[in-house]
Amino acid sequence: MNNESYLTFALGKGRLAKNTLKMFEKIGITCRQMEDKDTRKLIFVNEDLKMRFFLAKGPDVPTYVEYGAADIGVVGKDTLLQERRNIYEVLDLGFGKCNMCVCGKEEAGNLLKHHEQIRVATKYPYIAKDYFYNVKKQTVEIIKLNGSIELAPIVGLSDVIVDIVETGSTLRENGLVVLEEVCKLSARMVVNQVSMKLENKRITKLIEDLKKVL
Ligand code: PRP
Repeated sequence: MNNESYLTFALGKGRLAKNTLKMFEKIGITCRQMEDKDTRKLIFVNEDLKMRFFLAKGPDVPTYVEYGAADIGVVGKDTLLQERRNIYEVLDLGFGKCNMCVCGKEEAGNLLKHHEQIRVATKYPYIAKDYFYNVKKQTVEIIKLNGSIELAPIVGLSDVIVDIVETGSTLRENGLVVLEEVCKLSARMVVNQVSMKLENKRITKLIEDLKKVL
């Protein structure tokens, strides 16, 4: 197989990939190999379109794209802000909309107003650091966790958290509230910087086609 003639896509596993494939279908990009739910294959090819697709963990998508192992990636803006890779962000795909927020118990709101030295638990230390140090000018201690972030203020690990809020039900069910909004998030298309030059025609057409169905 001559890799150079294939456009390779890295898609964030799960809902992100499903929504991406649905959107791609609207512009005539399909991959039948991916429809087989029982397959253990990792990479799927559409020979007619000369396109290859693979699924990766969200935080790994920008890595594959930066190194050129994938020409194009689809990943959440939260992951892009956290991973800070040298890649082009070319399109807001409009799905996977949610907010990055500072959350905690209602009374923790006072700690934010008075710029106290507080503990912040998060899966996104760069985003939290940027927000507290550069935007709010508040000195904080960041504690990196890998999931179930809402636990931290409940069990007393941290004063607040910086985390994604989508429906708000995880917060509600755990007696927590949104205290401040950090930024809005959604799925983004990213492109390798060299691929953007070498495959400019195909990639530009893809972006233009997608814009029409957004
Ligand atoms: C995410 C996020 C929140 C939750 C927000 O967690 O970290 O916990 O979803 O969604 P909601 O506002 O609709 O309740 P995810 O389910 O990805 O798992 P994690 O807690 O292990 O990170």
